[in-house]
Amino acid sequence: MSHSYRLVQWNRHKVVYDLILAGAIGVYLAVFAGLSVMLASENEGISEPIVAMRAIGSCAFLLLHVALAIGPLARIDKRFAPLLYNRRHLGVATFILALLHAAIAVGFYGGFGVDDPATAVLARYSVDSFGSLTGFPFEILGFLALLILFVMAATSHDFWLANLGARVWKWIHMLVYVAYGLLVMHVVLGAMQSERSLVYPIVLGLGIVTLGSLHVVAGWREVRKERNAIDVPTGTDSRERQWIDIGSVDEIRPDRAKIVCLKGRERIAVFRHNDAISAVGNVCAHQGGPLGEGKIVDGCVTCPWHGYQYLPESGQSPPPYSEKVATYQVRVEGRRILVNPDALAPGTPVEPARFQTLDGGNSRE
Ligand code: FES
Repeated sequence: MSHSYRLVQWNRHKVVYDLILAGAIGVYLAVFAGLSVMLASENEGISEPIVAMRAIGSCAFLLLHVALAIGPLARIDKRFAPLLYNRRHLGVATFILALLHAAIAVGFYGGFGVDDPATAVLARYSVDSFGSLTGFPFEILGFLALLILFVMAATSHDFWLANLGARVWKWIHMLVYVAYGLLVMHVVLGAMQSERSLVYPIVLGLGIVTLGSLHVVAGWREVRKERNAIDVPTGTDSRERQWIDIGSVDEIRPDRAKIVCLKGRERIAVFRHNDAISAVGNVCAHQGGPLGEGKIVDGCVTCPWHGYQYLPESGQSPPPYSEKVATYQVRVEGRRILVNPDALAPGTPVEPARFQTLDGGNSRE
């Protein structure tokens, strides 16, 4: 392992995020259990382990929906970006709840110590069960989903991101969609087979449609941006002609950026800070967050996802950090910004392009 392990860096934002998360989970479990007791008919009564199993299991499933919705929501509307900040804790909480749900289920099948749980589960099924809708051993699907959630929770720390590399890490974490599919089938072939209430299919359907729609809308917006991307002139001898006019300095709010999409190239985040313009690659070195949707804080480009920072004039994280992003040459002519579309190596210093602010001095938000 080339990168060493660093303990999770707690800060006020993370503590607040986790406290809200813990509070919301507590409220959900209490409401679910309360409603289950209230709605249970006198004849059928209520089994406490089953209520606990369903409350915790449905809470984990709901959290998974929230975790999967945050990404597209943040791409559709920047105001949701702060939710990305600690999304990994949401994922870990989902795994812990799912594990608790599985532990109660295993205990329940085994009569809480009376029988061996594995034997008790296997005794419920035969080979033919796999071909039956009502008798399918849905527990297997939940178990496989739990394994995926475990791998994701175990590799969620930046230590694994740094050592596995962003590509492998991302592929591992894309397995969350496989886990989601397995859990949908787990619910359809499990709880929904023993329930006559329409609430279950309606809520599940709403969850699937909402998630699907958010991903389609977010994906469509990305496709539209790519379609409107600027063509980079090629086949010219003169490098001078390759500079791209990306707009006026007045289009960019102080300490914010304009994201430039160039056909077939990485996006560029062009920042306005004080009386200067700098351009860096739009992809954060941490988890690929869109730097151009962030802002300048304390003189640094600050990623909207988890707050990694980069100096605008060099693309380097300030000490003691070592992350780097690409930089681009820029110049200002009149009030027009011209960007050289050829990325420089990550961390290459570039002199910011100066311009005259309208009030004759530096401007800040
Ligand atoms: S993606 Fe995590 S800080 Fe940028």
